[in-house]
Amino acid sequence: MRIDIITLLPRLLDSPFSHSILKRAQDKGLAEVVVHDLREFSTSKQRQLDDYAYGGGAGMVMMIEPIDLCISKLKSERDYDEVIYMTPDGELLNQGMANELSLKGNLILLCGHYKGVDERVREHFITREISIGDYVLSGGELAAAVVADSIIRLLPGVLSDETSALTDSFQDDLVAPPVYTRPAEYKGMEVPEVLLSGHQAKIEEWRYEKSVARTRARRPGMLDE
Ligand code: ADE
Repeated sequence: MRIDIITLLPRLLDSPFSHSILKRAQDKGLAEVVVHDLREFSTSKQRQLDDYAYGGGAGMVMMIEPIDLCISKLKSERDYDEVIYMTPDGELLNQGMANELSLKGNLILLCGHYKGVDERVREHFITREISIGDYVLSGGELAAAVVADSIIRLLPGVLSDETSALTDSFQDDLVAPPVYTRPAEYKGMEVPEVLLSGHQAKIEEWRYEKSVARTRARRPGMLDE
């Protein structure tokens, strides 16, 4: 899978993709993440990327031309499954969407800033809009990193058995059960007996019951669905 991220602030994305699982996925050739600096596609002398909103009002709007040039260049090089705009009024990201996107081949993620992009970008170039939650970030970069992380960790071969995505919260419409590690007793706080019993069927039953109870307490809507 290849993910191209278009941004005004490429450096903001250095860190999330340079560590741990996301780095390993790229080192193994399972995912390629390419960050594009929108400034390189500005045609004006001042390297302008935003301008005042027609009709007035506070806040700048990202101009259509540099975005068009960048997306068109990428599209001339390969086919893309989706051109995604990161925006707080997009479709809310959830595990189902991450699963679905992890089956795609090439994705573009466009990060917004200021008041957002010229509406014509959304109408003509964008195939999908994603929000990571009902709050406003200063830009789409952190949201793009969240989307990319949620996708890349699902690609076959990225996670080892120990970290398998199949037992994650939400993957089977339940949140994950509690987990414990050594020591079995710490300052009087004990690990539930059943987990030390070695009785695998009982352990699975306990985990399932805890998952259901936790889902009922924390995400009752998931059980209704
Ligand atoms: N850009 C600003 N806020 C955002 C959000 N909540 N989700 C996606 N992109 C955003």
